Amino acid sequence: MKMTVIGSINIDVVYDVPYIVKPGETIHSTGYQTSFGGKGANQAVTMSQLGAQVDFVGCVGQDDFGKRALTNLRDYHISTQHVSEAGVTGNALIQVSETGENAIVLMNGANYHVTPDSVKEAKDAIVDADAVVMQLEIPLESVVAGIELAAENNVPVILNPAPAQKLSNSLLAKVDILTPNETELATLTGMEINTKESIIAACDSLLEQGVTCVVVTLGEQGAYFTDGKESGWVAATKVKALDTTGAGDAFNGALTVGLCKKYSLRKAIDYASKVAGHVVTQKGAQVKIPTDLYPGE
Ligand code: RIB
Repeated sequence: MKMTVIGSINIDVVYDVPYIVKPGETIHSTGYQTSFGGKGANQAVTMSQLGAQVDFVGCVGQDDFGKRALTNLRDYHISTQHVSEAGVTGNALIQVSETGENAIVLMNGANYHVTPDSVKEAKDAIVDADAVVMQLEIPLESVVAGIELAAENNVPVILNPAPAQKLSNSLLAKVDILTPNETELATLTGMEINTKESIIAACDSLLEQGVTCVVVTLGEQGAYFTDGKESGWVAATKVKALDTTGAGDAFNGALTVGLCKKYSLRKAIDYASKVAGHVVTQKGAQVKIPTDLYPGE
């Protein structure tokens, strides 16, 4: 399983708080830590732990955080041959509440030095991959370059459209698997998402725009999937959430691995849900994944 991730690398600055702070309010945190993050890096770390050979296309800062983030990726056996160094390392200011909910503010930093040219320079890693995985924490034009290169070479594209932004139909038509959460689904479609019916209708409109398959992550409600031929709901793994940061990333990484293992879509979602369920029981976005997590293998 060869995967290429084109995406973000962050340092997460995490505050444990009783609840997510309200506008105009000042509250005390009960804990503080820095850890490795970035949606791209989190997804890559998940895939590598699940047995994939991962190549990363990204950028870290010319600073101590950048060196540490590179070492972290290499410790997970991820190739950093296509990770450049410029500016300051991206970071994320994260509040994690007592119920495990999070709120995140991004500082793009070096992630915005990932240019279409740097993506094209990694062409070999993209065209040789079994799947290319992307998110939206690097400039959109670089995401477009990655999707076009993969699509021209018949490499499946998994796009996690986070943070949410509107995408063109021509781009969506080149995406094989799109994995929005409810908020992202609303932004992508301009539809109000508040019922099961509205989720189904929004996914159908994305299929009409050319996406091959949509998998909507619904937190503790599980996931909904459709490719126009088969569709359904998959329950989430029941756990006590300590920190939901990185759950979506673990889901995306495991879903990609499951599909590369030729699991059915439903089984790959079930697998991804088990992995994400494990991640929320631990603090931090990148957690160790036990090898015996999925008895279905
Ligand atoms: O999805 C969680 C991630 O979002 C965090 O690790 C943070 O860095 C932001 O990219």
